[in-house]
Amino acid sequence: MKDRIYVKNLKENTDKKVVIAGWVDVRRDQGKMVFFDMRDMTGKVQCVALPKSEGIEIAKEIRSEWVLKIIGKVNARPEKNINKVELNGDIELEVLNIEVLNKAETVPFPIDEDTRNINEDLRMKYKYLDLRTQRMQKNIRMRDKIISFFRKYMHENDFIEIETPMMTKGTPEGSREYVIPSRLWQGKFYVLPQSPQQFKQLSMVAGFEKYFQIARCMRDEDTRGDRQPEFTQLDYEMSFVEQEDVLSYTEKMFIELVQNLYPEKKITLIPFPRITYAESMEKYGSDKPDLRVNKDDPNELAFCWVLDFPMFEKTDDGEIQAVHHPFCSVKPQDKDKFMKGEDIFSIRANAYDLVLNGYELSSGSIRIHESTVQKQVFNLLKISEEEQQAKFGHMLEAFTFGAPPHGGFAPGIDRIVMILQNEPNIREVIAFPKTGEGKDLMMGSPSEIADKQLKELGIKLNK
Ligand code: AMO
Repeated sequence: MKDRIYVKNLKENTDKKVVIAGWVDVRRDQGKMVFFDMRDMTGKVQCVALPKSEGIEIAKEIRSEWVLKIIGKVNARPEKNINKVELNGDIELEVLNIEVLNKAETVPFPIDEDTRNINEDLRMKYKYLDLRTQRMQKNIRMRDKIISFFRKYMHENDFIEIETPMMTKGTPEGSREYVIPSRLWQGKFYVLPQSPQQFKQLSMVAGFEKYFQIARCMRDEDTRGDRQPEFTQLDYEMSFVEQEDVLSYTEKMFIELVQNLYPEKKITLIPFPRITYAESMEKYGSDKPDLRVNKDDPNELAFCWVLDFPMFEKTDDGEIQAVHHPFCSVKPQDKDKFMKGEDIFSIRANAYDLVLNGYELSSGSIRIHESTVQKQVFNLLKISEEEQQAKFGHMLEAFTFGAPPHGGFAPGIDRIVMILQNEPNIREVIAFPKTGEGKDLMMGSPSEIADKQLKELGIKLNK
């Protein structure tokens, strides 16, 4: 739009004629004058249409959420009307002319105030309206700032971002997988990644040495406040590192993130305390201890490292599974037991978590980079030779071609933003989240597909 300026830049144009565009926030008539707030992506400004102005007739008609282009003059407010705390509290826009770009129906819930107490299904159905509210705009804009910080930090430290496939084969992270039927290969399926775990390790075999990705992950698990079927990780992996390298790199990054973007917050303890999994379970009965001094202080951030997770655990039905995933290496002190397959539930992995205010923010490990060692994990997990080849043959083979020692980490971005923005759940910091039941109420997914599509895919439904 020609000559349009942002609302945040009005003040520097005091006494000048300007063009703005945006949404009507609230309108109030005062006698013959009409007052209303206009909102754009940068903020709000009070507008006034005077009785004799060209725009007065339209100003009397406009309603909340109409989209307008306004030509106006920026006036300094008289001293007694100045609001010192608000953006544009010391100016107002005298309306000269209004062009209505689009009208709006009455919105299904008020959006000039916080929608925290509005029925969540209704907010989800009209997510694009919910997102217009100040709090949601702030959450999504801060999320962008946090992601930009990470990306810049990674690049400054010689990491490169590599996009790994969405259509792939399963990678074990302990959840059910979402599958995509193949049309060309009927009866075969792609799997959506639970994480880029295998690809990031293979990027190390490929010689990139420092990989990262703002990675979308998909897991078919029950949704909770801190879980979504689709979420985002800051995924990274480095070659020729030991646990200490990953921990110190990560710790420095989080301290800088807080100092740069949330200077009002304070970190309880620096360096972050480190405890072992065994100590944490014994002392706090949890592997996610909340070490805040004052749990009511919204600005307190208690980070904590939990180290030496066990490698294996028993499932509810008595099977053995990897606690983190089967690619973790084991502690040198436990290597002997591991190779002999003795007392396996006491074997510890080079696996670590970062915990913040009682939430698991991230997990990672130093990986196995030798084929024989990797095979031993699969053997102990009672995965048959045949299944090892079918599922993980590519990893076992890759490790025979000069795989460097490597390790990494994967902080969950949604959880980070949730905690930093003091939100009670991650749905508040995801632009278009799913409900607790895994539905997208705005788009209406999951949904049925046409019979023709099913036929093409070779799928018959069991009704
Ligand atoms: P893990 O499975 O522990 O590790 O996941 C790492 C982090 O991702 C976040 N996270 C989630 N966030 C929202 N919704 C979910 N459903 C969800 N699941 C996980 C959490 C968690 O700490 N590949 C390994 C990492 C590695 O070994 O490098 C992995 O994915 O913040």
